[in-house]
Amino acid sequence: MKAMILELLRRKGDFVSGQELCELNNVSRTAVWKAIRSLEKEGYKIEAVRNRGYRLIEDEPSGDPDNALDIYSANEIKSRLTEASGIREVVFFDSIDSTNSECSRRAEAGCDGGLLVVSDDQSAGRGRRGRTWDSPPGSNIYFSVMIRPDIAPSSAPQLTILMALAVCRGMEKVLTGSAYKAGNRKSSPARHPAAPLIKWPNDIVIDGKKVCGMLTEMSSEADYIRYVVVGVGINVRHRDFPEEISKTAISLEDAWEKKVKRSVLTAETVNEFGELLKIFEEEGDLSYFRGMYLDRLVNAGRKVRVLDPGGEYEALARGINERGELLVETEDGTVKEVNSGEVSVRGIYGYV
Ligand code: BTN
Repeated sequence: MKAMILELLRRKGDFVSGQELCELNNVSRTAVWKAIRSLEKEGYKIEAVRNRGYRLIEDEPSGDPDNALDIYSANEIKSRLTEASGIREVVFFDSIDSTNSECSRRAEAGCDGGLLVVSDDQSAGRGRRGRTWDSPPGSNIYFSVMIRPDIAPSSAPQLTILMALAVCRGMEKVLTGSAYKAGNRKSSPARHPAAPLIKWPNDIVIDGKKVCGMLTEMSSEADYIRYVVVGVGINVRHRDFPEEISKTAISLEDAWEKKVKRSVLTAETVNEFGELLKIFEEEGDLSYFRGMYLDRLVNAGRKVRVLDPGGEYEALARGINERGELLVETEDGTVKEVNSGEVSVRGIYGYV
């Protein structure tokens, strides 16, 4: 109910009568009043005027200005999710071992797809290739989406490509107020000097430094997917990074020099992912997204070192194919397809 009240107050941007809120939620005036009190305790400023109703006062710092602008809760996220996100359940934790692990546990326990698990802190955040993901509280975004898509298990890595696009588009919206529109590349937010770009296959970078990582995990039979979990970690607030990543990591607020509301960015990204996923399921591959991805591909036109177990080589990155494989052109003009499951790619002068 609190999420519905928030959503309506935010959408109207003006007073909403107690009566309307009662009817929307099918509850008594006392129940609405209690929900409003509870939202105020969470940090929202809500003006109540006799005969006019309630009005949400957005972005008015009260108390600690840093936190007043960044209420991070299930209600705050839910009230910003659209139908197109495909999310049916949002679970928020102050702390959890790993949002990916929690999604898997819930999937194993029979939860339907469309689950979003968010946590303010992770005690055992996991990165790719068995690495850990440093996950302190109060400063970053850690979320995972669990879906049960009707696609072949071999197509699952393409979901990470989709999430990389969704993260960029979510960030672009927060940065500039809009995301890329096809046919309008010159004025696209992807051209903004501080726009997030993608280091193939799915690291998000700004200024050549990593701001976001993704971890996709799957449970499948030989020919069908039981469920997929796509986890996203975004560095939002300034902090001292652990030594081993301090030279290659950056926080969004440092890159953009502006405050970022974690609930807004989480919801925008998840909304984008739901929309892209729908198109992907209809199309059956990534053809539709190739241009969109290329537009944001930091490796495009650059020399990369392909760490192929069969022998390393250097080549020019050209884009991706419909399966999300990186297209690289070797010195003799041959174009090769590089699969992210087998091979990783490094910039020849550093991280990108
Ligand atoms: C990487 O770049 O190595 C991937 C990092 C993925 C981190 C996210 S944070 C939310 C989700 N839960 C986890 O334990 N990992 C992912």
